[in-house]
This record gives sequence, structure tokens and C-alpha cells, in this order.
Amino acid sequence: MSACCEKYKSEKFVMSNNAKDLVANALFDVKDKIVVVTGGTRGIGFMIASGFLVNGATVFVNSRKQKDCEKAEAEFAKIAPNSKYHTFVVDLGTEKGCIDYSNFIKQKEDRVDVLVNNAGTSWAEPIETYPDHAWDKLMALNVKAAFHMTKFLLPHLRKAKEGASVINIGSISGESVSALEYYAYSASKAAIHHLTRHLASRLARDNIRVNCLACGLFLTQLTKVTVERNKEDMFANIPLNRSGHATDIAGTCMFLSSKAAAWITGAVVPLEGGTLIKSYL
Ligand SMILES: NC(=O)c1ccc[n+]([C@@H]2O[C@H](COP(=O)([O-])OP(=O)(O)OC[C@H]3O[C@@H](n4cnc5c(N)ncnc54)[C@H](OP(=O)(O)O)[C@@H]3O)[C@@H](O)[C@H]2O)c1
Repeated sequence: MSACCEKYKSEKFVMSNNAKDLVANALFDVKDKIVVVTGGTRGIGFMIASGFLVNGATVFVNSRKQKDCEKAEAEFAKIAPNSKYHTFVVDLGTEKGCIDYSNFIKQKEDRVDVLVNNAGTSWAEPIETYPDHAWDKLMALNVKAAFHMTKFLLPHLRKAKEGASVINIGSISGESVSALEYYAYSASKAAIHHLTRHLASRLARDNIRVNCLACGLFLTQLTKVTVERNKEDMFANIPLNRSGHATDIAGTCMFLSSKAAAWITGAVVPLEGGTLIKSYL
């Protein structure tokens, strides 16, 4: 009998539902998970980190600035008293930064259950003057850092308790074309979407799932200036007529890290209030 048939024979019985396994508290549980959120000191990463902390996970976040790490620590202490978090000052735009951060994490914990590759930045400028160094900066952080962090944490991800979950923070800009001129940003987000699929295909055998969120508008430091200039148009593009909230991003990341998502890998999940299915007359 082929390996496939053997697998089918053993799997037939998994179909019988055990009521205990279906209880939501167990299915969506993230308690005691070891979670790394790159750049989780503010914005979307901070929302994700807070969600995991409130639900009993240990969380690592980073910034390039000591002051921002301390600020995040003070806010975590208020949001999730007695929770366990670590901060680290690092620039993830270099391979060395990714190695240093991975080593810091490895010294503190013997496994990683969840890696959220969130740290990212943008650059908008007319095509005529769009600079070469913007491409280098964005590809280094938005794409290469996600790859490096996954690579350097691999031995720890392989030791995850119930299979690891890597979540890459992508964007609607990686799926559709904006009128705004942020060429390197949209290209870097399309790249991370496809890198997600490639890594998911390779890492499935290690029981590491890799998914991506195509995020729509969240009100953060990254989008502040753009939103102030284009507020009406930006909200008109969102069928659900609001920006993303902490509950949206934290809830989706916790779902993708839980048993409930154990069969989801290689997916680019839209988290954008319907922006990508907006219809026009
Ligand atoms: N906001 C949105 O509407 C939106 C929409 C779609 C996708 N996204 C994506 O969501 C992710 C987070 O965005 P956000 O809006 O939360 O941005 P944000 O408010 O600017 O936060 C970015 C975080 O990344 C860190 N970071 C930036 N550059 C870094 C570097 N070189 N090394 C280490 N850490 C660095 C920042 O810390 P320091 O600057 O202190 O180092 C900060 O913690 C990004 O990947 C972004 O592309 C955002």
C-alpha cells in the first residue's frame, strides 16, 4: 500500500469529532506561546503584541530606539499586568541586526511558537525623483528581514509546541495598485506575499505554517501624513467604512497562531474591510 493510502486509512478516524477539541477556549488558545513580533513597539505590531500578552503569551518586541522600547514596556505593563515581555534595540534592516535579535531571543527561550514579521516602512515620491536608496531600505526591511528572521529562528521554530506559525504582515498594496507613488513599498509587499507561499511550501515538512495578512488601512505613524492628506478618498475605498482596529489585527494573528488554523498555510488573508472587493460604477 502506498504511503498516501496508509495516511488515508489512519486519517479516516480523525473525522470523528471529539467535543472537547471543539471548545472555543481550547481551539483558539494562545496561552504560554512564545511570540516574536518584529517592530512591536508601536502601531500594528504593538496591537498584535498586546493581544498575545493579554491572552497569556510571552512576547518579544523591538525598536531601533531604547526610549521606544521603554515606552512600549510601560504600556504593556498597563494593558497586561504580570505578563512576560522582552524588548530589544536593533535595526532589522541589516542581516547582522536580524542575527543579533535572533540570538537574543534564543538566549531567553528554547523555542519560538509564533513569529510575526511586522517591522516595515514606506517611501512615497514621484517617479521622476524616486531614489535608489529607498529601494534598498524597503527591500532590506520589508522583505529580507522577514526572510532572515525566519531563517535564523528556524531551529527554535522547529521546536514549537504544536507546530509554529509565521505571519508576514503584507498589504493591499501588494495585491492592487494605488494612485499614490510608493513603488518600492508596493513591490516589497507583493514580494512578501509570494515569499510567504514559497516559505510555506518548504517549511510544511517542519510543521511550520507560513501565512500573510494583506492589511488595509490602520491609523498608525506610518500612515499619519498620507491619511491627513487623503482622508476622504481613503475611507471611501473601504466598504466597511472604517480603519482597522487592534481587535481586527490581534484577533486574526491569534487565530492564525491557534489550533483553529492548523490546516492553513501559504495563504494571503485580506484584512482590509473589503477594500480589495470594492466595486465601481
Ligand atoms: N498602517 C497601515 O495602514 C498598514 C497597512 C498595510 C500594511 N502595513 C504594514 O504593517 C506593518 C507595521 O506598520 P505600522 O503601520 O504599524 O508602522 P509603524 O507605526 O511605523 O511601526 C513600525 C514598527 O517597525 C519598527 N521598525 C521600523 N523600521 C525598523 C528597522 N529598520 N529595524 C527594526 N524595527 C523597525 C518601528 O520601530 P522604530 O521605528 O522605533 O525602530 C515600529 O515598531 C508594516 O509592515 C507595514 O507595511 C501597515
